[in-house]
Amino acid sequence: MNTFAFIFHPLDASDVARKYTFAKYLPPLVIEFGLKLMPPVVASKITGIKSATGASAEGWFVGCTLTARQMLQLDQDYVIRKIIRAAQKAEELGAKIIGLGAFTSVVGDAGITVSRHVSVGVTTGNSYTAGAGIQALELAARRMDIDMQTCSVAVIGATGSVGTACSHLLADKVSDLTLVARDRTRLEALQQQLCDQSGLKASITTDVSEATRRSDLVVTASSAAEPLINPGDLKKGAVVLDIARPRDVSKKVADEREDVLVIEGGVIKVPGDNVDFHFNFGFPPGLAFACMAETMILALEGTYESFSLGREYSAERVRRICALADKHGFKVAGLRSFERPVTDEQIESIRRKAGR
Ligand SMILES: NC(=O)c1ccc[n+]([C@@H]2O[C@H](COP(=O)([O-])OP(=O)(O)OC[C@H]3O[C@@H](n4cnc5c(N)ncnc54)[C@H](OP(=O)(O)O)[C@@H]3O)[C@@H](O)[C@H]2O)c1
Repeated sequence: MNTFAFIFHPLDASDVARKYTFAKYLPPLVIEFGLKLMPPVVASKITGIKSATGASAEGWFVGCTLTARQMLQLDQDYVIRKIIRAAQKAEELGAKIIGLGAFTSVVGDAGITVSRHVSVGVTTGNSYTAGAGIQALELAARRMDIDMQTCSVAVIGATGSVGTACSHLLADKVSDLTLVARDRTRLEALQQQLCDQSGLKASITTDVSEATRRSDLVVTASSAAEPLINPGDLKKGAVVLDIARPRDVSKKVADEREDVLVIEGGVIKVPGDNVDFHFNFGFPPGLAFACMAETMILALEGTYESFSLGREYSAERVRRICALADKHGFKVAGLRSFERPVTDEQIESIRRKAGR
């Protein structure tokens, strides 16, 4: 049997109540204190994945018990030790490849140290996250009648693992690109790389709202623990692909900006008639995040060496995982916004309110 495990963690204290209902009644600080004391949790068994090739795979969700805020604020060595313990638990269960979800791939060196402490492959899932994310963005731009070649595009968190890959993929498709993060030196290095690769001279800024206010398309993949994009920060008619978990786009945008389209990054339909995650992470049955899907794809392919690790971009890796996704029947699952599918009526209404 092809086996895998996916390491995830509660994004915040309220997420803990998805698994333990009594947590609803506890203050967040008490929950976070309790999480620190807990060993890794085997949250569920994932069954029913069946590739278009006929191969099948099963796996486990293993919880690393820290919130996103704790992962950023606690001592990094301590956090990485907790992630390693979760990965070792996954290996004990029989996983042959391990995917690192949300901030378990953000802290430290994006999986490299974790991979040294287990004898099976490890992947952050970031190659397919970027590839599938840009596919979803192209789909959304088409439906909103935005011409990618002539519109203005911003990438927030551009120098990160997912952001770098998205920036490289976009540099071949757009003519007006702005790269955004806090560290200017790293932005300049990426700007140079993109220019060498594609000839595109991207702009750079450390001011998120300055970039988002003038962009028709925004890809956001920062590692901020709190939302970076608020209702006043977006151009009329903009499309935002929010890959970050926790989200970069404030939920207030959904309530206050009926003229913009915010879509979830890389939501993937997993092949198999009876796919069951036995765990509620907020998606309908059979849909997964692209980073989870990357782990499943590698398991179905029987490729058990580490795949996406660290923050270096590899065009070859993105091409390879997207081709394997097609081979095994994984597909971008239409467009979703704040945990709901986007309907044709919604697109029509957003276009009208944006004056298109
Ligand atoms: N949806 C999915 O399937 C999926 C899969 C993988 C990852 N993710 C999510 O994607 C996000 C990024 O992951 P990653 O691995 O690429 O992280 P990463 O390598 O640590 O990169 C984070 C990026 O965000 C920037 N950043 C951080 N705080 C910022 C702020 N306040 N303002 C502007 N820029 C900021 C960082 O640059 P500076 O430090 O210079 O600001 C860096 O460019 C995370 O939220 C992760 O959970 C989602």
